[in-house]
Amino acid sequence: MDELIIQGGKPLSGKVRISGSKNAALPILLGSMLVPGEVVISGLPELQDVGTTIELLTLFGCSCRREGDSVSIVAGSGLKPEAPYDLVRTMRASVLCLGPLLARLGRARVALPGGCAIGSRPIDMHLRSLEKLGASFDLDSGDILGHCERLRGAHVVFDFPTVGGTENMLLAAVLAEGETILENAAREPEVSDLAEFLNACGARISGQGTSLIRIKGVESLRNCRYTVMPDRIEAGTYMAAAGISGGDLQLENCPDWALDTVIAKFREMGLEVEAGESVTRVRSSPDLACIDIVTQPYPGFPTDMQAQFMALMCVASGSGMIQETIFENRFLHALELMRLGAQIKISGDTALIRGERRLIGAPVQASDLRASASLVLAGLAARGTTTVRRIYHLDRGYERMEDKLAQVGARIRRKK
Ligand code: EPZ
Repeated sequence: MDELIIQGGKPLSGKVRISGSKNAALPILLGSMLVPGEVVISGLPELQDVGTTIELLTLFGCSCRREGDSVSIVAGSGLKPEAPYDLVRTMRASVLCLGPLLARLGRARVALPGGCAIGSRPIDMHLRSLEKLGASFDLDSGDILGHCERLRGAHVVFDFPTVGGTENMLLAAVLAEGETILENAAREPEVSDLAEFLNACGARISGQGTSLIRIKGVESLRNCRYTVMPDRIEAGTYMAAAGISGGDLQLENCPDWALDTVIAKFREMGLEVEAGESVTRVRSSPDLACIDIVTQPYPGFPTDMQAQFMALMCVASGSGMIQETIFENRFLHALELMRLGAQIKISGDTALIRGERRLIGAPVQASDLRASASLVLAGLAARGTTTVRRIYHLDRGYERMEDKLAQVGARIRRKK
């Protein structure tokens, strides 16, 4: 397993280009199965999960051709409703195949995604809302078998604004008969990006970005070309890198329009963030101060930035509280940060971070995608050498992180 070796203490400065959004790319790629013609998706990040999704599309019978950061996909008549377990189980987002396959074929078989490090992550809201459209599901040795006649529009109210659940419903409802209304829908920018992509293919979705989304079913979708939005969580992670290293970074292709709450929290800590025309500049300050954070569905503070802020607060003054309300077990990075000298107390869904720590480099272990990012960030500030192990977690969601950091002065290398 690869590991990253970091010599801390060097302020970062220079330009970092933000890649396309993983969490927008995955549902959009799977949504291409709804289109009988050719779909060309550009601005894709070079990530493990993107590669896995394209491989999955091929196994469903799509023909895929990659050219640089684009892929051309034709989901013609040879579409199959099944995907192999060993591929599906490696990526939770595979559950988003249900919507398109039910809509196109009336059948779908995907592995029931297991839990993961950050929580049980059930898909009950996905299944219950798809049943409202007329689908029915059975469980067969760990797989979900779904089938339906033609899906019919319905009025669905989510118990919780689930990102994946909202995306699965968008993917299923665009070809359903009649109108579907989603209440308490997720408002994340990646959900809106999926809706924009589907509308570019001829779907009739309105209200995306609000908690009330309307989808008028159409007979079929048509060829389109679409560019995925930039990754707001990758951008937020590099803002934290500027802060924790005492540096000054310019981020290109940065979706600051999707980072209002995150930028407000960075400014509250004392970072300077200037959103310009083509670059967003982030400068650290010698007296960063801890703050309090509660993770919320968008437009609240994103759970995917919680680990990064925890690392940053370890070196800021005072103390701060982080309450994680989205996932039930998303403080695994705290235990590893303590190995570097961080002072963190966890009780239930709340972490208390005492700042002003001199972090000392040590070997640490990644457990999930954003936890690994927070350990890399801490390594940038820690005195001496920090080795981050199991960085396959990192490779799932960050394109060439060690190269991008090295280009702005970090002393970091990957050891195979
Ligand atoms: C998406 O996960 C993202 N993943 C996550 O990013 C992100 O943290 C999350 O949204 C919240 O913003 C992708 O987009 C691929 P949810 P998702 O459905 O769709 C519970 C990253 O680091 N729930 O909004 O799984 C669930 O267990 C990843 O890039 C149910 O109980 O998020 C969780 O506690 C991590 N039943 C909460 O709701 C359901 O049917 C939020 O889940 C669905 C969800």
